[in-house]
Amino acid sequence: MTTFGCQMNEHDSERMKGMLESLGYVPAERRAEADLILFNTCSIRERADDRFIAHLQEAAALKRRAPDTVIGVGGCWAQSVKHEVFERFPYVDVAFGPGQVHKLAEFLTSESLSAQGFFEFESFTGDLPARRARRHQGWLQVSVGCNCVCSYCIVPSTRGREVSRDPDTLIAEIRRQAADGVSEVTLLGQNVNSYGRDLPADRRVSFSELLRRIDAVEGIRRIRYTSPHPKDMREDVIRAHAELPALCEHIHLPLQSGSSAVLKRMRRTYTRERYLDRVALIREQLPDCGLTTDIIVGFPGETEADFEQTLTLVDEVGYDGAFTFLYSPRRDTEAAALEDQVPHEVKVERLERLVGLVQRRASDRAQRFVGRSLEVLIEGPSRTDPARLRGRTRHNKVVNFDGLGEPGDYVQVEISGATSQTLTGAMSLVAAAAG
Ligand code: 5AD
Ligand code: SF4
Repeated sequence: MTTFGCQMNEHDSERMKGMLESLGYVPAERRAEADLILFNTCSIRERADDRFIAHLQEAAALKRRAPDTVIGVGGCWAQSVKHEVFERFPYVDVAFGPGQVHKLAEFLTSESLSAQGFFEFESFTGDLPARRARRHQGWLQVSVGCNCVCSYCIVPSTRGREVSRDPDTLIAEIRRQAADGVSEVTLLGQNVNSYGRDLPADRRVSFSELLRRIDAVEGIRRIRYTSPHPKDMREDVIRAHAELPALCEHIHLPLQSGSSAVLKRMRRTYTRERYLDRVALIREQLPDCGLTTDIIVGFPGETEADFEQTLTLVDEVGYDGAFTFLYSPRRDTEAAALEDQVPHEVKVERLERLVGLVQRRASDRAQRFVGRSLEVLIEGPSRTDPARLRGRTRHNKVVNFDGLGEPGDYVQVEISGATSQTLTGAMSLVAAAAG
């Protein structure tokens, strides 16, 4: 099984694995040995498509040698090509969208040998059993789909209208996860903070109230969520960060562009000023909070002056980090049909300037951690030096440090250095406390 794309896809893949395990499947060591080659796909940018197609072609070659191999394709790419998938890729046996994962089990247990596709939203992947990648980290799918109409984005067409899960179901699930060793949970939704608005009045719970209920679950020490939309970032959610002990000091607030004119054509429904207002509120109430963002460079019609608006905003806010993307036209989106697409070289040149600024500001911001003792949740060995450990602070900063402990342990680390991406330090001997 190979996963592409966002954390929602990682979550969905854990559920697919759980479902397959319950059918008696076990992971193959190598793709060439698998009876079932399964892909969970992404379609957010053209690059995601290209990467995946190379894998799919490799699977097709394996199937030519072993014709009984079943090739399954799930997720957003599958959904976005649902009308043509079997014509263009005749070796695919089963294709399904993100709301149809359970149909994979039906397909695999049926007698049918003909190719099948399943694409209408029917149920939450969150209702399937999970096979978690890390024992102490859990995902909680609070909603699926998105009611926004951002003109660059394929997701509303791949994941459909927004549907929230019932709050009691969510609390029951988080209790089960906590009893099973999860201490850090990440709430997932395409637009996570509009959670609940579609629920019937007698079941409706706001996003901040949901956070409060999860905070009260015993054993949950850290709560994260992704991704919120700035338009729904209300004061009650920001206050919750100050009030709820488990809710981490990190907010990922996708900006996309610092130019109000571009934001308007993106249909983001906020202006530069309103976004900066949200940031001011966060800084006022949560001065130490980590703040990260997503930015798209080279949206159709973006002028040099528009782009400079993005630069000045990034400089003013001083993000702790940012994911930066070249605009990529996506099938069936409004923006793909716009004229004055920005030339590739211009996009690349702007991206380079943006990345430089993001890194400088992130590095400035990170210096506030030097000399402090921070709680770190251990994830495993450091990627650059296996003799050291790697973990994450509540601000979502990666820390490489000297110390002892197991994945899932909470330890105190004295921070001695900071770059734009990572912190470095050593575990405190006195305050160390296993989780
Ligand atoms: N081109 C480039 N980036 C995109 N994103 C979404 N759609 C596109 C696109 N067509 C980015 C946005 C979003 C992140 C997950 O991916 O910044 O927040
Ligand atoms: Fe990719 Fe978006 Fe689908 Fe996630 S929701 S898998 S990022 S297209």
